[in-house]
Parts: sequence; C-alpha cells; structure tokens
Amino acid sequence: MDRLSHAGFNDPMTAQTDSPVLVIGGTGKTGRRVAARLRERGVPVRIGSRSGTPPFEWKDRATWAPAVHGASAAYVAYSPDLAVPGAPEAIADFARVALDGGTRRLVLISGRGEAEAQRAEQELQASGADWTIVRCSWFSQNFSEDFLRDAVQAGELALPVGDVPEPFVDADDIADVAVAALSDDRHIGRLYELTGPRLLTFEDALGEIGAATGRDIRLTRVSEAAFTRELAGHGMPADMISLLRYIFKEVLDGRNASIADGVQRALGRPARDFRDFALSAAAAGAW
Ligand SMILES: NC(=O)c1ccc[n+]([C@@H]2O[C@H](COP(=O)([O-])OP(=O)(O)OC[C@H]3O[C@@H](n4cnc5c(N)ncnc54)[C@H](OP(=O)(O)O)[C@@H]3O)[C@@H](O)[C@H]2O)c1
Repeated sequence: MDRLSHAGFNDPMTAQTDSPVLVIGGTGKTGRRVAARLRERGVPVRIGSRSGTPPFEWKDRATWAPAVHGASAAYVAYSPDLAVPGAPEAIADFARVALDGGTRRLVLISGRGEAEAQRAEQELQASGADWTIVRCSWFSQNFSEDFLRDAVQAGELALPVGDVPEPFVDADDIADVAVAALSDDRHIGRLYELTGPRLLTFEDALGEIGAATGRDIRLTRVSEAAFTRELAGHGMPADMISLLRYIFKEVLDGRNASIADGVQRALGRPARDFRDFALSAAAAGAW
C-alpha cells in the first residue's frame, strides 16, 4: 500500500485514460518529483518547460494552448517565481487558456508570505478552475539542488540573514501533496499550507547539513549590498538578484516563522524533518 492510499485516498488516476497530466516546471525541484510519482502510477506525463515537447514558455503565451491541449490536469509551477510582478496576471491568463481547452483541474504551487503569490492564488480561485493551492515555505532543496548548493559544497554561505527561523519544507512532501491533489477530487477547493515540522535558523540548517556530511559549513552574515555584489560577480541576472533580495529582506523577516499543518491535512502523515532531508541528500552525493 503506498502512502497516499494509506492516507485513505482513492486514486482515480491509476484507472484513467491516456490523457496526460501537464507538469509545468517538470524538470525542476518539485515538478521533477511530481512527474516521477505520476509515471510510477502509470499516469502519462507531459513536461511543460522550455525544453518540453511542445515547448512551454511562460513569457510566450502562444506556447500555452499547445502544451495544455488534451491534458486531464496540470501542475502549475510558475517561473522564475510567483513573487515577481506579473505572476498573478500570468496565472489568471493560463487558467483561462486551460479552461478554454477543457483542462479544469489545476494545482498551483505557491509561496508563503508573498503578496504577488497570494494575488496569484486569488486569481486561480476566481478562475472557475477546479483548483488546489499548495502554499509552501522555503524548500530544503534550495540547499542541495539550487542556488545555495555550491556555497554549501564550498563550506561557507555568505547571506544577509539574521536569526529568524524558517520551517524549511521538503520537496518530496510537496510532490506527495501535489500528486494527491492531482489524483483525488477531494482536494478540489483546498489550500494547503506546507512547512517542515521544525523551525530552524540558517545556522541550524547548516549545522544539520554539517552533521550529515561530517564537514564544517559556516554561515557568514553579510549586508544586503555585499550579497548583491557577490551574486552579480557570479554573473547572476539582475532580475534574479532582485528576487533574492526581496526574499531575504522581506519574506525572511519573521512573517513565516511558524509551523503549518498542510502535509498532515493533505496526506494524513507528518512532514519530513530537515535532518532526514540532510541525511538523504548527503547520502545521494548532493554536496
Ligand atoms: N524555492 C523555494 O523555496 C520556493 C518556496 C515557495 C514557493 N516556490 C515556488 O516554486 C516555483 C518553482 O518551482 P521549483 O522550485 O520546483 O522549480 P525550479 O527548480 O526553479 O525549476 C524551474 C522549472 O521551470 C522551468 N522553467 C524555467 N523558466 C521557465 C520559463 N520561462 N517558462 C517555462 N518554464 C520555465 C524549468 O525547465 P526549463 O529550464 O526546461 O524551462 C524547470 O522545469 C515558483 O513558482 C516559486 O514561486 C519556491
């Protein structure tokens, strides 16, 4: 018995047709996991990304209808981030295109404590789609599969952070919730707020990764200006730098320093702890 059926959910998708599920961002941290889980269940998957077939590009609305054509449902991960200006309008427009093409079931991954992300959620809720919103705290996998990975590997993170704790959430939990939502109509109209089970400062998180890897990984607190200079020096584009500044300055100001119960509510089991993430990422050779 898998974890979802253990949680008491039926799984109409395994008994379903050839219609694919469109997984937008299907090569990214969460989408890759969503796609893998769907395929394990025998559900056909179409990857929605610039490298997909057909290609899907958020900046080019002409690519949306061909990508969603004939899909039974869609997992919607907006790039680069739902926090950027224009994201709510894109989500509203995408929902319209999907509904016009007959795809009603839309599962949106969203961010906690971000004004634009919450506006995008409202657009989806008002769209007429059969929606589920998976609103997440910071992903643990930012340390192992994204922009923090190289610095962790080098043994030092220079970040403009204080001692504000964050309940880092595991992308495997996010994917489990998204697949449950894509698989069971009882999740329609639900907003799940997903966090890990424990609040950790960045120093705590690096301590866990250090213990898992047997290495010393230091946190150096730097000013916002020094952080920005460092990113620019590594060739990061200006819009990504401004997104990270926003996230470190505003979203990590303590507003999200609380645990939410979305994993438990959606799956009937507790969220995975950061220590388990660190141990399995270390064992898989992330750093
Ligand atoms: N990271 C966090 O801590 C966090 C927390 C809460 C919410 N979120 C939300 O999570 C979402 C990102 O999900 P993720 O972290 O799983 O993705 P990700 O790892 O950032 O991967 C991005 C995915 O989107 C595709 N992509 C990139 N640019 C694209 C474009 N212009 N048009 C179409 N596809 C594009 C990429 O594939 P190609 O390169 O092939 O196009 C890839 O599949 C964002 O909406 C963000 O707001 C993130």
